[in-house]
Amino acid sequence: MRRNGLQDGLSIIDEDHRRVREILDELRPEDPGDFPDRKVVEHLIVEESRHEVAEEIWMWPLARDITHAPGLAARGLNQEFHAKRLLSRLRHLPRRTAEANALLERVQYSLREHMLYEEREILPLIRQGMDEELSAQVGELLTAARSAAPTRPRPYLPAWPGLLRASAPIVGRLDRARDLTRRRGR
Ligand SMILES: [Fe+2]
Ligand SMILES: [Fe+2]
Repeated sequence: MRRNGLQDGLSIIDEDHRRVREILDELRPEDPGDFPDRKVVEHLIVEESRHEVAEEIWMWPLARDITHAPGLAARGLNQEFHAKRLLSRLRHLPRRTAEANALLERVQYSLREHMLYEEREILPLIRQGMDEELSAQVGELLTAARSAAPTRPRPYLPAWPGLLRASAPIVGRLDRARDLTRRRGR
């Protein structure tokens, strides 16, 4: 989205949420007990991992600064930690099992709740607190962070922006190399 020729930087986040919801919709079983497509589950893990790291680096520090309510960010980061832990467990479970399906249901519920929280409680406040130039700059930073971010969830990598700015591109490169090796091995 553009206003006066400048990008609304947070539209990057809206766009990610739209994409994640699309994948979640694809994962809804046609019949109870159906197993979801493995590739779609992997796609969800990749999109979600990159998205949350970009938010941890740029969105939550802005939210803290603009809202002066650190509790709002703490709640969101806690939701992300919970979702990443679930996704990480899901990655390591054999796919076509009742346990994986039950876990996937929890993942779906947590992610939908988390996105709604950000959209209702956080993004409007950040938008109010930014001028258009800052917004455009944030869009560029989010895009760069997202494209270099890890493609696998790392719940135990601390969500400290400075640390992530330095480490996420390196961990992300490792992930992409492993993704490539795995695709070649199939
Ligand atoms: Fe998030
Ligand atoms: Fe988000």
